[in-house]
Amino acid sequence: MGHLRSRIMSIVTRLYLARARKKGFDLSKMAFFPDSALLPLRRDGLDPVPELGRTREREPISKLPVPFGMNVWLVTGHAEAKAVLSNAKDFSNDFTNLVGTAGADDEQNPGGLGFADPPVHTRLRKLLTPEFTMRRLGRLKPGIDAIVREQLDAMDKADGPVDLVEHFALPIPSLVICELLGVPYEDREEFQHLSVARFDLFGGAGASLGAISESLSYLQGVVRRQREEPGDGLLGMIIKEHGDEVDDRELAGLADGVLTGGFETTASMLALGALMLLRDPEAFARVRDDDEAVSGIVEELLRYLTVVQVAFPRFARTDVEVAGTRIAAGDVVIVSLSGADRDPALGSGIERFDSVREPTPHLAFGYGVHRCIGAELARMELRAAYPALVRRFPGMRLHVPPEELEFRKSSIVYGVESLPVVLR
Ligand code: HEM
Repeated sequence: MGHLRSRIMSIVTRLYLARARKKGFDLSKMAFFPDSALLPLRRDGLDPVPELGRTREREPISKLPVPFGMNVWLVTGHAEAKAVLSNAKDFSNDFTNLVGTAGADDEQNPGGLGFADPPVHTRLRKLLTPEFTMRRLGRLKPGIDAIVREQLDAMDKADGPVDLVEHFALPIPSLVICELLGVPYEDREEFQHLSVARFDLFGGAGASLGAISESLSYLQGVVRRQREEPGDGLLGMIIKEHGDEVDDRELAGLADGVLTGGFETTASMLALGALMLLRDPEAFARVRDDDEAVSGIVEELLRYLTVVQVAFPRFARTDVEVAGTRIAAGDVVIVSLSGADRDPALGSGIERFDSVREPTPHLAFGYGVHRCIGAELARMELRAAYPALVRRFPGMRLHVPPEELEFRKSSIVYGVESLPVVLR
């Protein structure tokens, strides 16, 4: 399993890198960024490094030292982050803005909501939104509960320590996305393997066209089968209602976007959230005993952990001023969501995890037109999974000293590599 998983991880990583490259922005070059430019991705355990807070205090919009003559801004203030993310008129998500449009057009990258600007973004997002209404998502609730229960049942049978990343955090969101997309049961194992991914952008992985087509052609196969026999999952519903407006490539791209957007993020939240509960016995007990407390604790975990550390890069289309700082046309803006979510403007003692904190307007799901389309689904998963876990294994504890846990380095989605626990 370990071998297969690492193979799949590398496939999806390469897919992501290659797609970013196709759009003209060579992320591999980031490996040569000076250490100080990686500031928004560095953490000390669960906390952003103190330097990020100091940067915010000094300059909530600061210049990052990067080579290649690029102007890159780092936004760490909450209000400033919202100002950038809500301004899709002056800030673009499309990499071609950085390098000109030669050789690339939107049709070549169908479905990549995160890299698209209105009006393409608006059209594609409209296809997805009906599937993410509370009413449609409500239909997934029993399935989510069953998926969580099955994972806990399997863990229950294990002798000795269990890795919560492998047996809890990864399978739950992957199977939920199968449920959402309407991937038939017999395809699930392959799908699950495909979705186990890692997004370490700085590993210097070389892009391989073979790997891209392997993964996209798998999703295209799923789409083709749904076209023949549309089910009542997301893909089937889009085919039934808007089948004439999208081609298979675009649909596979949307499925891929949902997979890459919803899998690793939720998995990281499940693992790091479980770790946080293990570190905070009071929060652990409240999740175990008090149904009413769960959604507030989930919000605080989302804020405190802010696993998507930075938003997609934004590119200034024109000269624009944000909170008194002049950003020039062509400049790149990196919004540090984890920095913004520790801004003291959100409340006192904001550096701490506080399980009784009133919910804050955090940016863990982003803000503006690109705000996470799966936010409510993610919340449903977290609200189902944490209480089920701590109720099933109330005596659970870490199997290794906390300082031995290995966290991801320089990864856009922060996470822990493994989380060995003793269940009883
Ligand atoms: C706790 C889990 C999750 C977190 C923390 C998270 C975080 C985010 C953030 C911060 C963005 C905005 C990025 C930006 O503006 O640059 C985003 C966008 C997105 N997310 Fe999530 N996400 C989560 C779960 C999900 C799930 C479950 C799905 C789908 C099943 C999903 C699908 C997407 C998609 C498709 C986008 C792109 C939206 C657009 O550009 O219009 N996410 N997510």
